[in-house]
Amino acid sequence: MKKTGFTGRIINLDALTYAGNPVSLEDIERQYGGTRYFFEKGDICDRAFVEEVFRKYNIDTVVHFAAESHVDRSILGPEAFVKTNVMGTFTLLDAARKYWRTEAGEMRESAQTGVLFHHISTDEVYGSLGDTGSFSETTAYDPRSPYSASKAASDHLVMAYHHTYGLPVTLSNCSNNYGPCQFPEKLIPLSILNMLESKPLPVYGDGKNIRDWVFVEDHNNAVWTILQKGKTGEKYNIGGENEWENIKLLHTLIDIVARKTGGSAEAMRNTVTFVKDRPGHDRRYAINCAKLKHELNWKREVSFEEGLSKTADWYLANTQWVNGIRSGDYKNWIEKNYGKR
Ligand code: DAU
Repeated sequence: MKKTGFTGRIINLDALTYAGNPVSLEDIERQYGGTRYFFEKGDICDRAFVEEVFRKYNIDTVVHFAAESHVDRSILGPEAFVKTNVMGTFTLLDAARKYWRTEAGEMRESAQTGVLFHHISTDEVYGSLGDTGSFSETTAYDPRSPYSASKAASDHLVMAYHHTYGLPVTLSNCSNNYGPCQFPEKLIPLSILNMLESKPLPVYGDGKNIRDWVFVEDHNNAVWTILQKGKTGEKYNIGGENEWENIKLLHTLIDIVARKTGGSAEAMRNTVTFVKDRPGHDRRYAINCAKLKHELNWKREVSFEEGLSKTADWYLANTQWVNGIRSGDYKNWIEKNYGKR
């Protein structure tokens, strides 16, 4: 992880729903818990709770990562996406506005100067590309899944709060993330874990859909860069400039995992199973992140080969984390310690 020189406090507000994992937070808790790191379990839709967190910690910057994020789940159950992504974003925005601004739109005396609301979003708001071209910050929104529609709505709310109420905001739209700690429902961790258990590797449709992959630390560095140097009211695309057809990605990943485990790449390839396509499956995403690179000086640092290798190493080493998810232990632990949601 890159050193940022940040010396402030971080308040982590998280509902710890199915994809949350307390073990992922143990390191930061051990190092900074109670001094510079504080955890608050709760729902961003819960207005009273959100307002209490603003007051308790005198919040000056919101970095809004919270979301329902998995497209397949949004197809099966869109309501949770509208609730968390639309209503949750609205609740955070409105709480920030009330805490930082008076009814007349002036800054409250109690609020710190230099406040900022940064919203994390996705390239999926732009829709699907043909064989050529890429998404820029001015590409018209054309979301096609309940997930991307809910994120598009949240982006619009963020910009509306800027234009209407003068809320200082920045927004980023990122391409596909991968790396340690990712819940194994996304293509890369799901495939790694299935390879380790010799389970089938499901590929949707013809496997030729294209995604633009960026390592999670490169994404986080981009967010940090925007927090430091971004212009209020602006949006920035983040991407890896790293387009891969799903099937080619899977073959590359198989080679990496086979090399690390001493398993047979050929046997793993034989488990690749073409399954029914995702409804409304976007064909291709590609991000143009020239604005972030040239205006704010960000650059991707982790190559795909290195990132995939680090990711595979992480899942191979963190068996406790993986087994906790498989057995449902973390869910039980969260319910025991924080109650049912
Ligand atoms: O582009 C950014 C988005 O990337 C984020 O906003 C989303 O939160 C995130 O979930 C991700 O969306 P995708 O739908 O692209 O990610 P996913 O890992 O589900 O799928 C990647 C590609 O692999 C996609 O074309 C569908 C395909 N796929 C996925 C799974 C889980 C398969 O072929 N088989 C699978 O089992």
